[in-house]
Amino acid sequence: MTFVNEMRLDFDALPENEAFARLAVSGFMLPLDPTMEELADVKTAVSEAVTNAIVHGYSGGPGTVRLCAGYSRNGDFQVDVIDHGRGIEDIRQAMQPFFTTASGPEERTGMGFTVMESFMDDVDVRSKPGQGTTVRLTKRIRLREDQMLPRRA
Ligand SMILES: Nc1ncnc2c1ncn2[C@@H]1O[C@H](COP(=O)(O)OP(=O)(O)OP(=O)(O)O)[C@@H](O)[C@H]1O
Ligand SMILES: [Mg+2]
Repeated sequence: MTFVNEMRLDFDALPENEAFARLAVSGFMLPLDPTMEELADVKTAVSEAVTNAIVHGYSGGPGTVRLCAGYSRNGDFQVDVIDHGRGIEDIRQAMQPFFTTASGPEERTGMGFTVMESFMDDVDVRSKPGQGTTVRLTKRIRLREDQMLPRRA
């Protein structure tokens, strides 16, 4: 994908940064003039992926979460949510509805990946045990007829 605009953001793996992450991504998307629904979809999916990085990737311990986002001239939006935490052994299994490894006091339904898949056009997960996880979320934002994003200089 050729981007006309890109951003990168690193932040501590703290629960209070979940809201920051989804607001940062929605702010970055604003030049695409997304609908409220498109914006809400992306924010929800980013929240799920960032929460997973913090809760599962780093098991609530210290770490850094990285967001890399970009969009193309025709409105294809992409964001990578990256952690260098514990990684996922079986990605297919992890993505099944209701599958969860959480057993603590926190209620986890195992629906995070299912939510991401329902709100985005594509969810691609790369992961290696012990090395970390990258979740790539992609969504086509519909541009208005008169809306042409400038080419990159
Ligand atoms: N970044 C990650 N690092 C390590 N494991 C992960 C990561 N993201 C997801 N997983 C694994 O995949 C499982 C399924 O994730 P999913 O988001 O679908 O459900 P959940 O987080 O367990 O529950 P919910 O999202 O409904 O609160 C998790 O329980 C966890 O084992
Ligand atoms: Mg989850």
